[in-house]
Amino acid sequence: MSVAVYPGSFDPITKGHTAILKSGLVAFERIIVAVLNNESKQPLFSVAERMEMIQLAAEEMGAEPGRVEVDSFDGLLVDYAGSRGAQCILRGLRAVADFEYELQMANMNRHLNTDIETVFIMADDAYFYVASTLVKEVARLGGNVAELVPAAVQPRLLAKFDK
Ligand code: PNS
Repeated sequence: MSVAVYPGSFDPITKGHTAILKSGLVAFERIIVAVLNNESKQPLFSVAERMEMIQLAAEEMGAEPGRVEVDSFDGLLVDYAGSRGAQCILRGLRAVADFEYELQMANMNRHLNTDIETVFIMADDAYFYVASTLVKEVARLGGNVAELVPAAVQPRLLAKFDK
């Protein structure tokens, strides 16, 4: 079975992420969406909150049962991917600005484990500019992010910012 790990901070998951996940399901039989457990990044949402939103987003996009799993990890991504039986790491690519960071990570991960390939999917042009950081800033300042995030995310964002 083809299995990919789709790792990230997902703080919170956006429609850009769900579009990548949906495309990823064309290529892989099973995708494990893996939230990085790294409190030093000072996330807005706890790992449990982020995992819950991803689970709800996967249901909202109609992912077939069993094809999407939500998990968290710490330590090296390639070790986690190997321990979960994944052959690939799935990442989304947006603007040129993503490229250098992604190239570095993909090469470092290949150096660490040559058996695991990083596979990139181009972001949907509708969400090319959507990033969790921007979404949080817009929501904090009272802007409307309803079209940029899955349905479960917006009320949770508003609650965080007392809107
Ligand atoms: O959504 P993000 O924050 O861009 O995701 C970054 C992530 C989680 C993919 C990256 O930080 C990661 O893989 N961290 C785990 C630590 C690791 O394996 N580092 C070495 C590879 S560069």
